[in-house]
Amino acid sequence: LEILLLNGPNLNLLGRREPGHYGHQTLARIVEGLEQQAAKAGVTLTHLQSNSEAALIDAIHATNADLVLINPAAFTHTSVALRDALLGMALPFIEIHLSNVHAREPFRHHSYFSDKAIGVICGLGADGYRYGLDAAISHLQKQQT
Ligand code: DQA
Repeated sequence: LEILLLNGPNLNLLGRREPGHYGHQTLARIVEGLEQQAAKAGVTLTHLQSNSEAALIDAIHATNADLVLINPAAFTHTSVALRDALLGMALPFIEIHLSNVHAREPFRHHSYFSDKAIGVICGLGADGYRYGLDAAISHLQKQQT
């Protein structure tokens, strides 16, 4: 089983970016924890963070993953193209946000992804990635049996 983790624009700044919204953990530390979690479950985790919409779309087109865990970041609220890439590849995905987007500016309340996601996790900080990976693994294991 393979899971592709995608992180969108500005998430490379985690740790120093608006810690009130996004916490103090760096993306490298989050990904390190997820890699350990995946390894324990015998799942391959591949990761891409990009500030470029095109790079994220290309990664979706190129992947052999069974499921995508994605924090589209600001593209959540803007990108029909990224949505279409996931749908075009028929890739099941789980949407993750560190912050509770519903408690923030109105323009963050709409997502181009949520209506097609298996599930959405938001507002639980970096732990949300751990919960998302856990949910992804059980989802895939259920399909296998
Ligand atoms: C985010 C929420 C988005 O609104 C914002 O543009 C981000 C990060 C989050 O993880 O809380 O960059 O996806």
